[in-house]
Amino acid sequence: MILKRLLLLLILSPFIASPLSADEDFISHYEYGQMLYTYPRGVSCVECHGEAGEGKVIAEFRDIHGKEQIIGPDIRGKRLDEMILAMNSYHDIMPRYYLTDEEIKAIYDFLKEKSKRMNVRRK
Ligand code: HEC
Repeated sequence: MILKRLLLLLILSPFIASPLSADEDFISHYEYGQMLYTYPRGVSCVECHGEAGEGKVIAEFRDIHGKEQIIGPDIRGKRLDEMILAMNSYHDIMPRYYLTDEEIKAIYDFLKEKSKRMNVRRK
């Protein structure tokens, strides 16, 4: 029946009409780093270090010393080995993550590339 064939063609068309090239199957190294930076296994780095690792104010409060701020530092200037060391240690505010060296490298590369794309100036 013609209708049945038409239906089959419709269902199969995405596979026939647009065969994916080999590298379209995979996300790029940049996207992988972005994904890890935004959704690591734990709290998003973006929350405390900003979109491109430029740093940001996490919280502001008042105490006996007056106005206080908790800051997520600018991490764009960090070397890869510093970043790996930081990710594998315990901190006061930053949670402990369990990322592999390859995952940290992907985040590191993403931050470098992102800063370049945004053309943000280093402090
Ligand atoms: C809850 C807020 C928070 C989150 C989420 C967070 N950080 Fe941090 N990070 C900090 C703070 C604050 C520091 C400074 C050390 C401290 O006081 O904990 C820091 C320090 C660092 C350092 C070391 C900077 C230095 O001066 O040596 C690196 C690198 C870093 N963070 C990367 C990351 C990455 C990558 C992620 C995500 C996987 C992340 N952080 C998630 C708050 C955060």
